[in-house]
Amino acid sequence: MLIHSRDKGFIHPHSSEITPRSVYEGRRDMLKLLASGVAGAAMASWAARDALAQAAAPGKLPALKGAKSAVPGAQTMEKLTDYKDATSYNNFYEFGTDKADPARNAGTLKTRPWTVEVEGLVKKPGKYDIEDLIKLSAQEERIYRLRCVEGWSMVIPWVGYSLAELIKRVEPQGNAKYVEFVTLADPKTMPFVGSRVLDWPYTEGLRMDEAMHPLTLLTFGMYGEVLPNQNGAPVRVVVPWKYGFKSGKSIVKIRFVEKEPGTAWNKAAAQEYGFYSNVNPNVDHPRWSQATERRIGDGGGLFAKRHKTQMFNGYEPQVGQLYAGMDLKKFY
Ligand code: MTE
Repeated sequence: MLIHSRDKGFIHPHSSEITPRSVYEGRRDMLKLLASGVAGAAMASWAARDALAQAAAPGKLPALKGAKSAVPGAQTMEKLTDYKDATSYNNFYEFGTDKADPARNAGTLKTRPWTVEVEGLVKKPGKYDIEDLIKLSAQEERIYRLRCVEGWSMVIPWVGYSLAELIKRVEPQGNAKYVEFVTLADPKTMPFVGSRVLDWPYTEGLRMDEAMHPLTLLTFGMYGEVLPNQNGAPVRVVVPWKYGFKSGKSIVKIRFVEKEPGTAWNKAAAQEYGFYSNVNPNVDHPRWSQATERRIGDGGGLFAKRHKTQMFNGYEPQVGQLYAGMDLKKFY
């Protein structure tokens, strides 16, 4: 993602070659936090070990199996990304801006007890304990591509059920046009909340028909186990036809609203990240092309063979109709 330095208004590319000032500042913030005891050094090293253990291989976390999904488009024949790559190359800015930070730092995240509040324009608002939310509908395994706006992608066997299952139960009112996702922002357990990289909490949103689309997955697990902390435990959304930043991690509120909600990256850099953020090889990011992608795990680093990015990340037959007649350059 881009790092937006608020004080000077610079927009920086975030890549392995360039370490922007706000990242340095962020790292400094983190060191200060660690030194100040907000997250003590002992806890940090315990957390890092725990997270790295999680990163090594499946088999360490509780199982969460899902039946093979019958939803068209929920499977792909592509080779799965290695668990190690999927759990050690992450974006989860609450734990740091470097790809390796979430695996190192997210061991501090407390995923139990956990409640998700459903509020706003619904007939049946309520607080769901995470265990009840997991049991609300049958778990399915879905192999989706995750395409990040930064130009890389992975293929992951997610476990969850269509968000539509929950939405139908809470009965949205007629004026509920959008769904907003609010994620945890706990400075005690998330060392980067408090840095100026983004406005916390990280929020995201979908139009109601996008949220109701069967491919939109309320996700509790991956690779047959519960989500590792760095991948958004205990519950995240995965919207496979949109750039990865639309899939908020560690969700605490699902809010039904009438107006298009603000979203974390749109607030940080509106001209670069729109509300829709559909994967689209024909609409470039203002400063780089979106036509190709690098598959994590292919090897070769920056010189790896690039794959052609597909419209709507390959899910056009399933979701293209949602955007019929819309100018996707305008609604990027
Ligand atoms: N959710 C929260 N709360 N905070 C974040 O920084 N990053 C997003 C998204 N969800 C992010 C988040 C981005 S930019 C991407 S690409 C995906 O999570 C990455 O998911 P992964 O680490 O499981 O691959």
